Amino acid sequence: MEKDMKALVYQEPGKKSLEKRPIPTITQPTDAIVKIIKTTICGTDLHILKGDVPTCQPGRILGHEGVGVIDKVGQGVTALKIGDHVLVSCITSCGKCEYCKKGMYSHCLDGGWILGHQIDGTQAEYVRIPHADNSLYKLPQGIDYDAVVMLSDILPTGFECGVLNGKIQPGNTVAIVGAGPIGLAALLTAQFYSPAQIIMIDPDNHRLEVAKRLGATSIVNNKNINAVNAVMELTNKRGVDTAIEAVGIPDTFVLCEDLVAPGGTIANIGVHGVKADLHLEKLWSHNITITTRLVDTVTTPMLLKTVSANKISPNQLISHHFKFDKIIEAYDTFSKAVDTKALKVIIET
Ligand SMILES: NC(=O)c1ccc[n+]([C@@H]2O[C@H](COP(=O)([O-])OP(=O)(O)OC[C@H]3O[C@@H](n4cnc5c(N)ncnc54)[C@H](O)[C@@H]3O)[C@@H](O)[C@H]2O)c1
Ligand SMILES: [Zn+2]
Ligand SMILES: [Zn+2]
Repeated sequence: MEKDMKALVYQEPGKKSLEKRPIPTITQPTDAIVKIIKTTICGTDLHILKGDVPTCQPGRILGHEGVGVIDKVGQGVTALKIGDHVLVSCITSCGKCEYCKKGMYSHCLDGGWILGHQIDGTQAEYVRIPHADNSLYKLPQGIDYDAVVMLSDILPTGFECGVLNGKIQPGNTVAIVGAGPIGLAALLTAQFYSPAQIIMIDPDNHRLEVAKRLGATSIVNNKNINAVNAVMELTNKRGVDTAIEAVGIPDTFVLCEDLVAPGGTIANIGVHGVKADLHLEKLWSHNITITTRLVDTVTTPMLLKTVSANKISPNQLISHHFKFDKIIEAYDTFSKAVDTKALKVIIET
């Protein structure tokens, strides 16, 4: 019987390899082993490879996104059985602790973002998923698996941290700073609420073109143009009701402070490595709200229904397909997005 599998392993900052690893086994009764069908690469994986995430140790199998089929279940797994096709959530959650009870799965006392970080991840032929009942989602018949992979991380992130936190309402004006996969996921899911304007801001023309196709009402390339002036022109000098930060650098957070209209909301999605200025000398009287969040993936069941019903088509975010043997090539393509025009890449086992 086959005991080894192929896996993408983080070796040390700047170094990764495709290796043979033992197929994982059940270690807790609440575990399941999932045979991966499709996975993808996240910007966070690139951060790990650069050495920006010291909590991820060398030797770790990367990846926190994917779909697969249940290969084994522990005795404590009640909602899933061998052969079920499932979405793997990027967040592992017990469903029972204080934070899980509040819907804050990302802060689960025995989970959170651990997959491809503190435990081995999905960029492999098999993966062990703890708390399987709460961390895997059974797939409806006939759903597009490429689209479903987008629901492991980027769709719930754009929706929960950007759209829900941003309190988008019908007729509102929205600016999304950053047209990467996450900003585009916020763009797709913002349209559930019919805002009147969605202005997408990014220095990459290709990503802005994609944004236009996905429903942005205006695009602003802020490489050469002052984005504040452009947005004020588009909004009768008011600014926007919701400014979504989807980059993760101080400049773009400050840009959101300049774009938000009185009474509006800044919804931060970006992961920030350094401090950003908060201009309270201007904003103290503007009745604004600032929100932050780590994705909880509590909206995954709802998002699965919208994909199943063709209300949104997240497969529009996929630019490339690779076989698992070519995963190093997939990383090269994904990490050179400006040249390769990559957004999300699908890797099939
Ligand atoms: N809060 C969460 O739970 C959570 C979850 C996942 C990812 N994230 C974060 O969301 C952010 C976006 O993720 P992504 O995968 O889309 O990243 P990405 O790097 O693929 O995309 C970022 C985009 O920002 C654009 N950009 C760069 N500088 C800019 C500037 N000055 N003005 C406007 N746009 C600019 C880039 O051209 C790119 O298109 C990252 O910081 C990521 O770490 C947060
Ligand atoms: Zn991710
Ligand atoms: Zn929990």
